[in-house]
Amino acid sequence: MDREAGIEAYQAMITAQEYKVRRAAGDSGDWEHAYSNDSDSPVLRVVASKVEDMSGQVTKYEFRSPDGSDLPDWTAGAHLDIVVAPEFLRQYSMSGDPADRSKYQIGVLREEQGRGGSALLHRIFAEGRRVFISKPINHFPLEASASKSFLMGGGIGITPMIAMAHQLNAQGRAFELHYSMSTRAGAGYLADLSAMPWADHVTHHVSDEGTRADLDVLLNGYCNGWHVYTCRPDRYMDGVMQAAQRQGFTDEARHLEYFSVPELPEYENHAFTLKLARSDREILIPADKSATDVLAEHGVHVDVKCADGICGVCKCGLISGEVEHRDFVLSKAQRQGAVILCQSHAATKGGVVVVDL
Ligand code: FES
Repeated sequence: MDREAGIEAYQAMITAQEYKVRRAAGDSGDWEHAYSNDSDSPVLRVVASKVEDMSGQVTKYEFRSPDGSDLPDWTAGAHLDIVVAPEFLRQYSMSGDPADRSKYQIGVLREEQGRGGSALLHRIFAEGRRVFISKPINHFPLEASASKSFLMGGGIGITPMIAMAHQLNAQGRAFELHYSMSTRAGAGYLADLSAMPWADHVTHHVSDEGTRADLDVLLNGYCNGWHVYTCRPDRYMDGVMQAAQRQGFTDEARHLEYFSVPELPEYENHAFTLKLARSDREILIPADKSATDVLAEHGVHVDVKCADGICGVCKCGLISGEVEHRDFVLSKAQRQGAVILCQSHAATKGGVVVVDL
């Protein structure tokens, strides 16, 4: 709300006593309180409508709106930010069918060695629980022009691949889904996958049955228009990306999504200038600071969530300048016109990066 609108709203406010008097007199006007559900709110209140233990370690959760109305639409590859508890905000890929707006679905692996979010979620998310979640956020979309898509899911990384398979199948497009797991007993979604109308596109690779995926064989014979997608865990993701590269998949044809920060290369930090095209301001970013921090110090607000270069929230239009992109969210193509301000720097000492701010 801008200042003038704020003053107007304040002036329109009346006391509780005055409110009662006007109501009793049958008056009406701007002063009346009308509840409106802000459909632009980034946060949704939903109910955990189904909790299904799939393997002892992996549990499937479904969420519906409290009044049963449709949820905001979404596309395959999206994730939800879920408020597990006030100090635990966690991201989970959506594993349902994007065409089904009646519910959202995620699968959660209980990570005993993790930071506690997934274990807490497993413990407290019972059916009927009211939960706050973000609207679906998609930094991992399918490439619309693909002639064939390879969906590579390792362990819990199967979740976004299921949504992708639904979407590709509905569009009548070619795809293969490869699901790698250590053991069948520890894997989730096996029963779900076998019941899908596209079950014949799925191949299981089970390490303890000796059918571990030979990624180079699966991705062999690259043709223009083929795209490959993979997600956590990081070791599996690296294996898929390296095999895809060996088999000729171009940078643009390899898609991945990080949920934790991988090992960082040794970057050399140096000061550079950020030029804000809309206001023609120039701001010096010291070597030891992020652009988002320095912008905030200068009163320029940019939304920040992870500050690690993986969520994409601080993405900004890039107009010119050579950038050392240090994020884990933008594709090579996206980097032509965008920059992740919480991590990236100018490529050279004293460089000037012009952004759409
Ligand atoms: S805040 Fe998450 S990528 Fe910058």
